Amino acid sequence: AGTPPAPGRLAGRHVLVTAGPTHEPIDPVRYIANRSSGRQGFAIAGALAAEGAAVTLIAGPVTLDTPAGVERVDVETAQEMANAVAKTLPADAAVLVAAVADWRTDAAPQKIKKGTGTPTLRLTENPDILTMLATSPHRPRLLIGFAAETDHVIEHATAKRAKKGADWIVANDVSGDVMGGDANTVHIIRAQDVESWEKLPKSQVATRLATRIADTLQETA
Ligand code: CTP
Ligand code: CA
Repeated sequence: AGTPPAPGRLAGRHVLVTAGPTHEPIDPVRYIANRSSGRQGFAIAGALAAEGAAVTLIAGPVTLDTPAGVERVDVETAQEMANAVAKTLPADAAVLVAAVADWRTDAAPQKIKKGTGTPTLRLTENPDILTMLATSPHRPRLLIGFAAETDHVIEHATAKRAKKGADWIVANDVSGDVMGGDANTVHIIRAQDVESWEKLPKSQVATRLATRIADTLQETA
């Protein structure tokens, strides 16, 4: 019979997190995808739950365990992710960490066989979930996107923040060899300033971000 844990600064808040890649099928055995392990998004979902938030984690195809206290919804495609996000609203905050495939194609019902000519894929742009949330009547009060960039990291991410209507963009410098790695170098791009963090383990990026989110939701009650 110890002391019960403190309720946490995000108690009573609902936070939505997307994580991992999406897979856009080409045929029953092939797909289009972005590189993403899902680890940073899962760590963020876990850190938010540890601060007491009710967390809905909408996860693309990844091989990761669900963090403690997190409600997980598994999806495959961008369209499924967009639908799952819409069903999860309202939320006080949303953190969109998923590396959503930008395009999909009409999947062939049977496996495409070699030797009948090289197939051409006709691509259709996927819905942009961040833009959808930014313009929704149920827009979360704090809307956070991620941007993995290889060059001009802060410039690209600053432009993305404005274009997509996010409150913050967490700009992730992927010029080195971080894809699937354990650490991240990020900049928090806000309307008023840019905060650059030193290279940190993904777990620490997650706990710091959860702290900032708790600060902000408390300030704006
Ligand atoms: N995002 C999204 N839905 C999409 C594409 C992206 O919600 N269909 C979100 C990502 O989860 C991320 C942010 O938007 O939070 C930025 O994603 P990114 O791929 O960097 O931006 P894009 O606008 O797709 O630009 P790019 O051409 O650089 O891929
Ligand atoms: Ca993209």
